Parts: sequence; C-alpha cells; structure tokens
Amino acid sequence: MLIAQISDLHCTVPGREVVPGVDTAEHVRRAVERIAALPDAPDAVIVTGDLVDTIVPEEYAVAAGLLGGIKAPVFLVPGNHDDRDMIRAAFPGHGYLPATGRLNHAVDLGALRLVGLDTLVDGAIHGTVGADGLAFLDAALAAAPDRPTLVFLHHPPFETGLPIMDGWRLTDADALEAVIARHPSVLRVVAGHVHRHVTASFGGTIAMTAPALCHAIALGPGDGLGNPEYTLETPGLLLHRFDGRRLVTHLVQTGGAWQARRFDG
Ligand SMILES: [Fe+2]
Repeated sequence: MLIAQISDLHCTVPGREVVPGVDTAEHVRRAVERIAALPDAPDAVIVTGDLVDTIVPEEYAVAAGLLGGIKAPVFLVPGNHDDRDMIRAAFPGHGYLPATGRLNHAVDLGALRLVGLDTLVDGAIHGTVGADGLAFLDAALAAAPDRPTLVFLHHPPFETGLPIMDGWRLTDADALEAVIARHPSVLRVVAGHVHRHVTASFGGTIAMTAPALCHAIALGPGDGLGNPEYTLETPGLLLHRFDGRRLVTHLVQTGGAWQARRFDG
C-alpha cells in the first residue's frame, strides 16, 4: 500500500503569485507529474488542506483541474485557506465528503483505514477538531480496531518550535492526543499547515507534517510583526508505504533533476 501526501497547494488564478517567485500551479503540476512517474503507483493521494489561497471559486477550478490529473483516488481535508462548500462544489465526484457540516470522513483502502479530519475554523488561522470531530474519530477507530489507520488533518497536533505557526495551532490537540492514545491501530497522524516537514511523537504513535507545494515557512521567530518569514526551499511531498507491518515515510522533493540515472563505470 502506498499513500502519497501533498499539502498546502495554495492554488491561485494564472498570473498571481502567493509570494514573489512561487508559481503554485507549476509546483502542483510538478508534484502530479512526480506522482505519475513513481515506480509504484500510489493507491491513494491525500491532500492535507490549503488547496487555494484567497478562497474564491476560480482558484478551486485551478486546483480541481490540476488534481484531476491524478489517477489514484484523491481524498481531501480543508485547511484555513479553504471553504467547505467551495470544496464540495469543485469536487462533485468526491462522494466520501459529507453533504453538510464538517468534511470529516473515513474510508477503507486495501489493508488500511484512512480518516480525514476537518480542522477548519471559519475566518481563523488556527484550527480545531471539535467535539463532533473527536467523536467521529473515536467511532471510526473503534469500528475497526484491527485495521491499521492513517489519520490526516491540516493543523499539526503538536508544537513545532516555529513560534508564529504554533500560535496558529490546533487548539484541541490534547483532546485529540487522548483519543489517538486509546487506539493503537493508528500508525501515523499526518498534517500540513506549517509548510515544512516536521516529525514528533504523539499519543503513542508518530505525527508529522508534509512540506508545502508553495513557499516554505522559515525557521526562526518571524519578522517581529507577528508574521512568519518564508523561504524558497524546494517543495515536496510525502510517500507513506505500508508493508503489512510498518508505515515507512519518504520525503520526496519535487524540484528538478529527480529522474533516475544509471551509474556508469
Ligand atoms: Fe498553507
């Protein structure tokens, strides 16, 4: 089983850059090409939020067009740069998405269960799973205690040491950790939001974030005005491979020169 994770696409309309020097549509296109060229086709692609940037339907049309190039089933959760109803409208074929309310969902895929949690708080940068999301997760895990499970959400449930981003954290992370700790079937909790690849222990399992298909958030305290600084580090995606026993994760950068070359001599 192979699950690819992309995050923080921040798709914009053509000609608009999220930050100078970053064409997010091009970054997403490269990631989709990279996924298509993998030696083993993924069984699913999960998208951990921030599909668009300014949250208008035109941006969702761009995101849907680009993600439509992925052959594997795609599963979405919203980020703080998303709108639930615009997602529902732009991805009408995504039947796992509830028709109303939060976009929590659980699907079984081969040996794995995937649980997507909606942490979007309308108009805010921070996130919550909420009492309904925690109950949904607890029930989804209790229904299949022997099925290895990957939980995915936008806001990481741990402090990263990036002070500005930690201020925009998942505010009910402790409650989420208590639920996860009760269910040893959870192999991994994966998120986005911080635009960097970060790993932490969490609830008896491992939690990590994927890098963004956008700018990266700089290490350090921010600009002194309450905003993070950014870098133009190479974007990337995560590949989570379940071998029947463990979930093994590769960071795959999606910049140039990724084609395999043969050693000569
Ligand atoms: Fe983002």
